[in-house]
Amino acid sequence: MDLRVDLIFIVCLATVLGAQNEVSSFQSLPNPPKANVSQCSLVKDNDRLDCIPRGNVTQDICESRGCCWSESSSGIPACFYQPKSLSYKFKNITETSDGLVAYLERSYKSPYPRDVALIKLIATYQSDDILRFKVIDPTKKRYESIFPEKKLPSPATKNPSYKLIIGKDLQGFRVVRKSDNTTIFDASDLTNFIFSDQFIQITTKLPSTYLYGLGEHKERFKLQSKWTTYTLYSRDTSPLFNTNLYGSHPFYLSMENSTKAHGIFLKNSNAMDIIIQPTPALTFRTIGGILDFFIFLGPSPSEVIKQYQQVIGKPKMPPHWSLGFHLSKFGLKDLNTTKKYIERNLNAGIPVQSIWNDLDYMNNSNDFTYDKKKFNGLPQFVDKLHKEGRKYVILFDPGVSSGEPNGTYPPYDKGVELDIFVKNSTGQILVAQVWNPVSTAYPDFTNPKSHDYWKLMMKSFHDVVPFDGAWLDMNEPSNFLKGSMYGCPESELEDPPYLPRVLEGSLSKKTICMTAKQYAGLQYNLHNLYGISETNVTSNVVSEILGERSLVITRSTFPGSGQYGGHWSGDIGSNWEDLSYSIPQLLDFSLFGIPLMGADICGFFGSATEPLCNRWMQLGAFYPFSRNHNSVGMKEQDPASMGDRVIRSSRKALEIRYTLLPYLYTLFWEAHKNGTTVARPLLVEFPEDRNTYDIDTAFLWGSGLLIVPILEENAISVNAYLPKGIWYDYYTRQPLNSSGEFMDIYADNETIPLFIRGGQVLPTQFYRATTEEVRKADLKIVAALDQNGRAEGLLYWDDGISVDVGRNYTQISFLVEDGDIEINVINNRAEHPPKIFSVEILGIRNFNESNLSSGNLDYVYKKQSQSLLLQNLNIDLTQSTSIKWS
Ligand code: GLC
Repeated sequence: MDLRVDLIFIVCLATVLGAQNEVSSFQSLPNPPKANVSQCSLVKDNDRLDCIPRGNVTQDICESRGCCWSESSSGIPACFYQPKSLSYKFKNITETSDGLVAYLERSYKSPYPRDVALIKLIATYQSDDILRFKVIDPTKKRYESIFPEKKLPSPATKNPSYKLIIGKDLQGFRVVRKSDNTTIFDASDLTNFIFSDQFIQITTKLPSTYLYGLGEHKERFKLQSKWTTYTLYSRDTSPLFNTNLYGSHPFYLSMENSTKAHGIFLKNSNAMDIIIQPTPALTFRTIGGILDFFIFLGPSPSEVIKQYQQVIGKPKMPPHWSLGFHLSKFGLKDLNTTKKYIERNLNAGIPVQSIWNDLDYMNNSNDFTYDKKKFNGLPQFVDKLHKEGRKYVILFDPGVSSGEPNGTYPPYDKGVELDIFVKNSTGQILVAQVWNPVSTAYPDFTNPKSHDYWKLMMKSFHDVVPFDGAWLDMNEPSNFLKGSMYGCPESELEDPPYLPRVLEGSLSKKTICMTAKQYAGLQYNLHNLYGISETNVTSNVVSEILGERSLVITRSTFPGSGQYGGHWSGDIGSNWEDLSYSIPQLLDFSLFGIPLMGADICGFFGSATEPLCNRWMQLGAFYPFSRNHNSVGMKEQDPASMGDRVIRSSRKALEIRYTLLPYLYTLFWEAHKNGTTVARPLLVEFPEDRNTYDIDTAFLWGSGLLIVPILEENAISVNAYLPKGIWYDYYTRQPLNSSGEFMDIYADNETIPLFIRGGQVLPTQFYRATTEEVRKADLKIVAALDQNGRAEGLLYWDDGISVDVGRNYTQISFLVEDGDIEINVINNRAEHPPKIFSVEILGIRNFNESNLSSGNLDYVYKKQSQSLLLQNLNIDLTQSTSIKWS
């Protein structure tokens, strides 16, 4: 639309509505009309749209809102909207070069203050598979989420796979996939649509109940749709059911009945409730900002995830060493304890790649200090770790102490000088308290100056203690007081007209006041972004200090966090339930573009029993981020403390992990480059197989390795689903032909069932005790043939640390067909992998030695497992080659 025409239109309409300012536009609206009883009776229970989502639900209040009333039970709202009660009416719809613009005018008052009487809907055909639509106040700039920061390319569509149906016979609008006419976003009836200052609500009818995402929650992978509320508001709490947790991700993936997939992302950082009801329908209810939706047309789940990451940014490439096994504990009270802890595990043969110190290392729990008595000799200890090829990672809390004597604690003094701290409503530094004994001030990571401040602090500490990675905790941000040392002022920001179902019924509980101010605006709007803004700055700062790729693991996340770091699932319990829930958590973060993810192996709170820790170490060896961590005062749970059986099974699983590092690293590269997943839900790989839609007790690494952990006490078998195809037992190499069946798989106490998928080539290396040593060991290529004797795979290789990822690297493709493996060097720039020692082919039914391409190949053929091992090959990977065996 022409800008001038646009302005004239707004001015005219605003005058008609008396909308000189927001308050007068509200005043000009009439009361809602009374509900029509016969219309109300037509509404089915499952289709009711809640008209009083919080607070006192009475017939009087209901009727004053112009809604329908009818008693109900089991979560079904008694007060609900009358169908087609025109909340907003279209005034004007204009096509633009890349979409359309429409104006809607509110018909009557909503129950919430400051209705935006005139709204503007801007639809942008972003690409052939991505539609964006924004709903804004055209008369007044409202807050828009500052993350994800990614700059989108200019809209470019040749042949959009969707159409937007708006106006005409519809009261609202719909987004339809052209190829099969499925409605992906259905807001055809804007009955309950509200756009007021602190309450914005829109409902979409869903094509199916198979929904995934909407984190961070303790929930099975498939979300519930029984009037279930998922609240998004970052919060420091042990993961509980029906509770908002550390991160906020307003994104869902939907599997449609046709087996196609789509995704929806609401770019909005305010606290919100998302309600799924059995209609099926989903309501977004946010308390600020604007509506900024991205609709991803898929049509496969992996394409949806890739499209989503085009918008939020693809994940960072982790340093190679960070894929090793990490050992941590809160309560390693001094350096001697820390040393003993790592030594006993190394002596037991556990390949510990890095040791993590919790805040125990700090002096008085103060960032950028270490306790020179208890941790005397820490710098030397870190040097020694480095010489052994190991790494050292430490915890940082975002808040720094504001309670030290003047001039004695540079992190605070410098912060004051640079004016870097979050302020309270009256402009003074907001003072609260986290672990620091007296008080805490919070750096404002939305302030561009925070980079220099944080770098100065990290660098001066790194000069003394040369840490390799940063573990970011408490960045929801957490606060042990409510709001601040002095509480919070009375305000509609602290106590909004609608309060999402946040834990303990208060926005400022366990965090800072909503009226606090950051450089980028009000805490009310920015709360959910504290973690991502800190991770962003830290990721850059640590890389600059090290001159290498950094490892940053953060507790609080938001869409786009994957570009800066990984995540762990926080303070879970040492119990079988949380062991099992760690898989859906992991898979959620795969959808969220944060592949470097894992749970505290053996759990954080509580005492892990030997059988639990035994099975957890086996599963944890396959978390992309693999770390055993537990709380202070809890029984020790490092593998060495758990006895021989845990030691043996940890060694066995971790040896497999280290052997598979080239495969895992390649998966991370593909994720970084293309937005694919590392720990992969079965439905992403087998979307046409509906049996996979409910599976969250097993997962894949990429396309090629199926991991089926034992999640029940005393179990030595598991009923596993093997999608259609050939699967090879990792240990025996025996093929299993599945027609898409559940099978009982035996798993002795020291073994986690693993299957290599027919059709895949996995690059592996000889086992060594550190990632650095593994990198030098020869490669062993494992090719698992499918029904047609075919398999393919990829190897990405670089120096493991360069910031400039994808500059100097080697990329090799493997293709097995007709009894021949082609090893093609696709890209060959400076960094070369070691030689290939062996190629193992699984699934060779008939083998004839005389067909080998070279007479003097060293080989072993096992008839029983149908596997052929060609060894002593010493293939140099600077040029392409092939080997033939039939
Ligand atoms: C938080 C973290 C936990 C850490 C503890 C002490 O609870 O989630 O991992 O050990 O703080 O720093």
